[in-house]
Amino acid sequence: MSERLEDIAVQMVAGGRGLLAADESTSTIKKRFDTINLESTETSRRDYREMLFRSDEAMKKYISGVILFEETLYQKAADGTPFVDIIRAAGSIPGIKVDTGAKPMVKFPGETITEGLDGLGERLAKYYEAGARFAKWRGVIAISSSLPTRGSVRANAQALARYAALCQEAKIVPIVEPECLMDGKPGDHNIDRCAEVTESTLRIVFEELAEARVSLEGMILKPNMVIDGKNARKASVEEVAERTVQVLKRTVPSAVPGIAFLSGGQTTEEATAHLSAINGFDLPWLVTFSYGRALQDSALKAWNGKPENVAAGQREFTHRAEMNSLAAKGNWKK
Ligand code: 13P
Repeated sequence: MSERLEDIAVQMVAGGRGLLAADESTSTIKKRFDTINLESTETSRRDYREMLFRSDEAMKKYISGVILFEETLYQKAADGTPFVDIIRAAGSIPGIKVDTGAKPMVKFPGETITEGLDGLGERLAKYYEAGARFAKWRGVIAISSSLPTRGSVRANAQALARYAALCQEAKIVPIVEPECLMDGKPGDHNIDRCAEVTESTLRIVFEELAEARVSLEGMILKPNMVIDGKNARKASVEEVAERTVQVLKRTVPSAVPGIAFLSGGQTTEEATAHLSAINGFDLPWLVTFSYGRALQDSALKAWNGKPENVAAGQREFTHRAEMNSLAAKGNWKK
């Protein structure tokens, strides 16, 4: 496998394959397990993720890479095989979430700043040793009638840019994720407001990436789609696709090899339908998925924490992965 950042970046988004975001922090995976009344322990987290990573067909055909949480990067399957080896054996690339979370931003009520830059260079060197070839950092942008503020967007964009530069120095492809929230509070903003916020955020993110001398060819952008807030009217699939493409074309240089969307609280089928419609446009980048909930929700439910349901969970995961792979080629039909 090539070690060039540009080649890894293309491999992450090409051929109708996409990324599985399985990097839920310990507190987030607990929330997911709560929905099936399962206690979150090191073992239950291992069993759940083993079910996903051993979904052979899905991993080989549809999943180009897996974003892991630090615990999982170093974790082994029940039989002692490191997860990293299982992922690689399927022809998929291990990646790692390296931010340490979005923390309340002092003097900016309702907004957060993502932390994790201190000592990041040393951590990246260790993650590379452990097999990670790409990383993720998520900046969170709240949307309301008065938010975001310029100060918060600028601070998050600068952190994303510093992170991305450190990754490239460590031979790791940075996934740059500025997420303008659809499911924040109050979540009643409409698609116009989402378009406005996403456009100005991406403009500032690419300004900061340039200031930090990040190579655009060696990164992947992970944006939100342009969409109504969770508690607002639902725009049509066509409208979401058109508005998303318009904002991305205005702000994302064509030197960026790939865009991998987050699902952000869309239903599984919405996330697939939107991705497919977006790929119906003539685009200068490869556009695919980097979904967490939209790839996992039905699999988690089918598994329900029980060993006898592993095959059922894997079937659900494989189905969603296949549907999203079709969508990554613009070929998904309801
Ligand atoms: P969702 O697809 O569930 O939004 O998660 C993707 C992700 O990695 C968010 O950081």
